[in-house]
Amino acid sequence: MKTLDSISALKGTHVVLVEGSKDIAALTSSGVSGDFVCVQSGGGPVRAAEAAWKAGKSAVILTDWDRRGNILADDLRTNLMALGVSYNTRIRDTLAFLCGPYAKDVESLDSVILHLEKSLLGMRGVGMGAIIVVEGIDGTGKSTLCARLAKVLAEEGYEVESTSEPTRGKVGGLIRSGAFEGVSQSTEALLFMADRNDHTERMAEAASEGKVVICDRYFASTLAYQSSGLDGGRADMDALLPLCEVFAKVPDLTILLDADPALTMGRVRSRGEDVSKFEEAGFLRRVREKYLALAEEHGFKVIDASMGPDEVFEAAMREIREVLRCIRRRRSTRRRARSSRGRG
Ligand code: TMP
Repeated sequence: MKTLDSISALKGTHVVLVEGSKDIAALTSSGVSGDFVCVQSGGGPVRAAEAAWKAGKSAVILTDWDRRGNILADDLRTNLMALGVSYNTRIRDTLAFLCGPYAKDVESLDSVILHLEKSLLGMRGVGMGAIIVVEGIDGTGKSTLCARLAKVLAEEGYEVESTSEPTRGKVGGLIRSGAFEGVSQSTEALLFMADRNDHTERMAEAASEGKVVICDRYFASTLAYQSSGLDGGRADMDALLPLCEVFAKVPDLTILLDADPALTMGRVRSRGEDVSKFEEAGFLRRVREKYLALAEEHGFKVIDASMGPDEVFEAAMREIREVLRCIRRRRSTRRRARSSRGRG
């Protein structure tokens, strides 16, 4: 991180020459700020060197440290020298030395940093934790998506905790057992909320330990389902919202899988599963509308669940990566502020 900090410290006097825009994304997500120039999209090494010269600044050469990146770095050096622009290659050499065993490109820096942090510090207390919720009516593919997200994130080195509501805990177990069959929608909402109260604590603890929590359904399920008039009864959304503020926590990301109930009910039936009391087309249409309104109000990311599972997965991963990058950026800024306070 010290090496990356030294790039930001040169801001103002240096332009940073990288290969492509993905490299800039990886650097900024790792908390690096700078005056970046893309060598590829900027017209090659000659143009990139001219950009530094025109800006009246020195250059940090930060191409990948693979064969292609080495050739590009040589080209940049030649062109910068020809224009009399001074350059720094030390940062690239240091990154190549530190990250070489794990990756050969700038684009992979954030995942390399994750690996390094894990091995140096352990994930506990690193603060990379996040709560990611997947919502949607039955048959939108939530469970399949959650399982795949958990698997891939774990393979990428994150510590992942998978969970769902109703939970497998005491209150969730009672709900699932059907023990409360026939109670009003308001009572049902309160039961889901009671289950959520303990669950929220467990999720927050896991996130504070640095885990990425993937949760199948959370408070939006209660808001959407219990206020949509099952059997004519409905809980008052305005009464439920303040309870959510007390007994739930705003997730770092909520993904809403959205699809027409005609499609989702067909999927549920084709799985040969029992159709629950919630799976009635008119009711599910109202639930879907509630979900979409909540998404608009609370900034959920809506993904079209009529797409194939691979496309849905890719879209969800894009949202998750963006959120994890934001969290890492915030953390780097905090760490930098702490270290400059320490120096001051
Ligand atoms: P599941 O099929 O995703 O396990 O969820 C069981 C059912 O519980 C599902 O049809 C939606 C319903 N449900 C609510 O009505 N309110 C809630 O708050 C939650 C968490 C689930």
